[in-house]
Amino acid sequence: MESSTNIKSSGLAGASVGIPPRNIKFSHDYYNSHRYPIANNAFASSFIAVLSGSFPPGERFFVESVRHFREQITDSELKAQVSGFIGQEALHGREHDRLNAIFSEKGIRVDFVDKGVKMGLYLLERFSPEQQLACTIFMEHFTAIFAESFLQDSKFREACEPESLKLWTWHALEELEHKSVAYDVYTRVSNSWRLKLQAGPLVAAALVPVLIGSLVAILAHDNQLQKRHIKSHLKGAAMLFGRHGLLKHVPRRLPDFFKRNFHPTQDDTRSLEQQWRENLFGSQGLLSDIYASPTLQ
Ligand SMILES: [Fe+2]
Ligand SMILES: [Fe+2]
Repeated sequence: MESSTNIKSSGLAGASVGIPPRNIKFSHDYYNSHRYPIANNAFASSFIAVLSGSFPPGERFFVESVRHFREQITDSELKAQVSGFIGQEALHGREHDRLNAIFSEKGIRVDFVDKGVKMGLYLLERFSPEQQLACTIFMEHFTAIFAESFLQDSKFREACEPESLKLWTWHALEELEHKSVAYDVYTRVSNSWRLKLQAGPLVAAALVPVLIGSLVAILAHDNQLQKRHIKSHLKGAAMLFGRHGLLKHVPRRLPDFFKRNFHPTQDDTRSLEQQWRENLFGSQGLLSDIYASPTLQ
């Protein structure tokens, strides 16, 4: 995790290139009255808990894999973007750590995810720094697809407890703001297509089994694996993975990463980002009351 001084300097440089780390502390009091804030559904809420559990170790991996090459970046704009990327990811990790502490308090076992993801990342860390960065840009591509869908899918959002959306919306917006940074570092320091091709299977092998296993373990610990819950779980799974679900664009768009001419900006999300910056931080914004300025407090 970044020290506060590093986050502060990252914030100033990042803000100058449109990647401001926004230092916001979210309240999660809604967990006192909602065990399953995502559509009042155990499966969907547990899946979201798994994602939250995976972010602090995952985003530290992203930051370290980019930081490794930081000194090789000479382009001043990309240097500032790297600062913004590191600052944003460090703050995401901090806020998901805080949310994960609430999950643990409530007996939702995100510690399963933390341990599993750390094991998976330990395997990825056995590979070269270039291969680790290729894994990071693959995961950042997945994250950007997910973030875009999350910001666009009003049906999914309407089904959620509104307070629970705040952290996820802030995170999704910033994922889009910095979606090219790790990729642009990769093109400067390696740009090997072979390492990119290997990244997909490596990430899948290292992380997918632990994420699925953690989801099942969380549901089991919450007594949610009885037959009577199946219908509700199928409904939750359809909300996420169905034809009109939150992750509907992933199967079609994830493979774009392997095209030789791929770049994250080919999917132009600038107007979506602008719309959500206004929705969150405009004069009537959802987060205006807890966020003052791009300069960190
Ligand atoms: Fe993030
Ligand atoms: Fe990211």
